[in-house]
Amino acid sequence: MAETVLITGASGLLGRALVREFSGGDFLVLAQYHHHQGAKSGNVRWLAGDFSSAEGTAAFLKRHAARLAGCSHVIHNYGPIVEKPTADVTGSDLVAAFQVQVQPALDITRFLLARAPLRSALFIAFEDTGRMRPFRKILAFAMAKNALLLLSRSLAAVHPGIRFNVFSPPTLAGADIRHPQVKPVAPEIVAARVRRIVQGRGTGRHYRRAGTGRKMNSGGCHG
Ligand SMILES: NC(=O)c1ccc[n+]([C@@H]2O[C@H](COP(=O)([O-])OP(=O)(O)OC[C@H]3O[C@@H](n4cnc5c(N)ncnc54)[C@H](OP(=O)(O)O)[C@@H]3O)[C@@H](O)[C@H]2O)c1
Repeated sequence: MAETVLITGASGLLGRALVREFSGGDFLVLAQYHHHQGAKSGNVRWLAGDFSSAEGTAAFLKRHAARLAGCSHVIHNYGPIVEKPTADVTGSDLVAAFQVQVQPALDITRFLLARAPLRSALFIAFEDTGRMRPFRKILAFAMAKNALLLLSRSLAAVHPGIRFNVFSPPTLAGADIRHPQVKPVAPEIVAARVRRIVQGRGTGRHYRRAGTGRKMNSGGCHG
């Protein structure tokens, strides 16, 4: 029987590639969107959701509880990037970034841990541990994405039967915000990599120390 995967931010740039990758790979895909529902197809169900507040996330979980109860995998892909020069970043910016990046990911994961036959959770986040480089324009975003790494490692420690992974995509071809010196990568290539990780076929490159290029494996996290 096909396994069910929930993909958040499924109507975005990487999300659309993930939907194609998983729906073509014998999964039933629950694809969360906000304003732009994607094309209907046999094994894709589009679920409307607004994650701009904890109440919005709770309403999403309540409205789609029956479908979500079948989820074996979740990919926390939702997480828009907001740029702001570091000198201008305020405490409110940090709170807002944690609201966007962390709150939906944690509340959805907790719901699925309690109600669904969850086998894996993958966070699109920052993989870096240890000494990190300073950020000039995306500090709040980077702090919140890095918090997902700590969250993932900590959940892995208390849920040893479930695979938690963190994956940090390269700059995507077609993205609005791009690093000038980095060659963008097609979302399809990234989506295929994510599927290998979700299916336990990717070789773990999950927790890295910034600057060393060294790979770390951590308890409860496997590729
Ligand atoms: N783009 C890059 O180069 C890049 C690089 C590294 C990491 N990443 C990470 O990869 C992931 C995907 O990035 P992306 O560029 O593909 O994203 P994106 O194109 O900006 O997609 C945004 C998604 O979030 C949904 N969304 C927006 N506001 C929402 C809300 N209030 N509630 C619920 N959903 C909402 C959108 O839904 P609607 O369109 O339906 O409104 C859409 O599905 C993110 O976590 C990002 O941080 C991206």
